[in-house]
Amino acid sequence: MADAKEFQDRLLSLGLARVSEAAALASARLVGRGDEKAADQAAVNAMRDQLNLLDIKGVVVIGEGERDEAPMLYIGEEVGSGNGPAVDIALDPLEGTTLTAKDMPNALTVIAMAPRGTLLHAPDVYMEKLAIGPGYKPGTVTMTMSPSERVSALAAAKGVSTENITVCVLERPRHEEMIREIRSTGASIRLITDGDVAGVMHCAEPEVTGIDMYMGSGGAPEGVLAAAALKCMGGQFFGKLLFRNDDERGRASKAGITNFDRVYTRDDLVRGDVIFAATGVTTGSLLAGIRREPGWVTTETLLMRSKTGSVRRMTYRSPLR
Ligand code: FBP
Repeated sequence: MADAKEFQDRLLSLGLARVSEAAALASARLVGRGDEKAADQAAVNAMRDQLNLLDIKGVVVIGEGERDEAPMLYIGEEVGSGNGPAVDIALDPLEGTTLTAKDMPNALTVIAMAPRGTLLHAPDVYMEKLAIGPGYKPGTVTMTMSPSERVSALAAAKGVSTENITVCVLERPRHEEMIREIRSTGASIRLITDGDVAGVMHCAEPEVTGIDMYMGSGGAPEGVLAAAALKCMGGQFFGKLLFRNDDERGRASKAGITNFDRVYTRDDLVRGDVIFAATGVTTGSLLAGIRREPGWVTTETLLMRSKTGSVRRMTYRSPLR
């Protein structure tokens, strides 16, 4: 019989899908209601309740914030029944609170689980991110290349002209210069208003999503979640923490980070096997959102394991209570 203290990724994965589904179902009532906080809180409560039913000795390493800022699912919170394998949990109960409040595409609930000590404890600061899909040689694109050099290098590796490359970027004033430079190559840009975990995941299936590369800065916690997703789906990811002040550097030191200039690869952020689940809250290009019909509610969940590279899409229909 398998050792109960081992990371039983196969057995744990279905439980993780339930956790993700529960968070999405809880926030469903708040889609399009203009209340970001209420939607997030509903997802947090449901995710925490479901997580505590799992037979794991879990610690939240990417969560809702520091203990003094977040009453639930804070960094360091112990979750699970306490029986079972010691695991790290990275979560974002509602990735895209504004997308949910405004009923815009690609809001997700996201959670990843890995053996204890294998996920980077990323502080809540920004991270410069770069991602491409599977099938490219290491070094095809790098953080030291300029945005236009990355476009040219990827186009050459793909065997197409730069006009045939599409880059996904968060629409923010801080990205204006980068957007201008990418456009100067002839490449097109898919601008997203929020939700860069989904943005990065789009690179893993370019033939479905039309996105070849992700670039720009966003939350560092979301960077670890995106790296976990790409570790399961395939693809390259690079992240570098960005610090605006000493408070942010202090947060990083507290999280055990010593080299503030390090470029993390996907496998530095997620050092071992990982399981990843995401459920659609609003319909997007990766997942269908919550669908309500008289008497029923339906969700779609992506459940993936890095060990096997397996990707499951699960539809769950539940009676409306
Ligand atoms: P929330 O779900 O917490 O609102 O975050 C959404 C998000 O768009 C992330 O996907 C992204 O990493 C981050 O916010 C970007 O931060 P900012 O809005 O400060 O540019």
